[in-house]
Amino acid sequence: MAPGLPAGLLAHTDRMVALADRLAARHGLDRGRVRLAAQGHDLLRAVPPHELLARATARRLAIDPVERGEPVLLHGPLGALELSERFRVTDEGVLAAVRWHTTGHPDFAAEQWAVFVADKAEPDKVARRPALAKVAMLAERSLDAAALVYLDLLLEQAVEERWALHPLAKLARNALLARGAGRLEG
Ligand SMILES: [Fe+2]
Ligand SMILES: [Fe+2]
Repeated sequence: MAPGLPAGLLAHTDRMVALADRLAARHGLDRGRVRLAAQGHDLLRAVPPHELLARATARRLAIDPVERGEPVLLHGPLGALELSERFRVTDEGVLAAVRWHTTGHPDFAAEQWAVFVADKAEPDKVARRPALAKVAMLAERSLDAAALVYLDLLLEQAVEERWALHPLAKLARNALLARGAGRLEG
């Protein structure tokens, strides 16, 4: 789906698609939708930050101050636009999964969380950051619990390294907590 991407990004996408597909099958989700979102999620990940910011400005996207400071976050929203306009993807669930795959979203349903979790806990990322093994392990049982643990880790890292957490990551974490994802960890 994304010719011209750097080899490392293609390899990440392949691992991520494989995990997303497996999680979709395991949790009884629509594998076609999950695969499509997984294949397209990093379509614009290799676009340089200044260009992402320029494109988002030109398209009059609502740019959060956190995104302005860290424009790489815009590869999701702009990637979703690209998928709808260039690849004629019309499924709003697929587009939302791509749009918010970096931060999560409080309105995410299981298919979108499958994409999110697969992106964060594919084998190479777990190998590079062992704390993510818990996310991968929990994903077998509960996508909500896995996503919550990932967002907990993100929050810890934001505090330790003193960077601003994207508001959607906070809202997504709150939504997962509100529907009891913290009790599913076991
Ligand atoms: Fe990404
Ligand atoms: Fe990714």
